Amino acid sequence: MVIIPYLKELDRNESSLISALQETQKVFGYLPEEALEEIAQYLSVPVSSVYGVATFYSQFRFAPLGKYVIKICHGTACHVMGSGNIAQALEEDLGIKEGETTGDGLITLERVACLGCCSLAPTIMIGDRVYGRMTHDKMRKIIRDIKRGKL
Ligand code: FES
Repeated sequence: MVIIPYLKELDRNESSLISALQETQKVFGYLPEEALEEIAQYLSVPVSSVYGVATFYSQFRFAPLGKYVIKICHGTACHVMGSGNIAQALEEDLGIKEGETTGDGLITLERVACLGCCSLAPTIMIGDRVYGRMTHDKMRKIIRDIKRGKL
């Protein structure tokens, strides 16, 4: 893995660490282990510092995203309207927790704040599309469609 070309614009010291991590995640969609080691070497910082910063910020991921990312809104309106139940049902159906990806790499569950369409609460988002007034039954149909390649 050679990530150095993506980091050429950055100063080669610790002050560039977050930018280097962001750039790497932009390129790969997550932070591969080898990339973290390359960053450490390139910026001359200990690998432990790179891991420390990468694990501190929730924006960084350590595994690739699934083909479909289901963003579950946990903003206030959605929370009041039962987004917790939707999330729990999804976790049980898929056998993963929010922040994780199914073993086949098909679906990632992501916890997000307000999606900006509170009148449709509870909402989820897949790709660019928002699905409103979610219920467990609607969610199950969406999962079926994803698995059949119909979404
Ligand atoms: S709180 Fe969920 S869309 Fe606003």
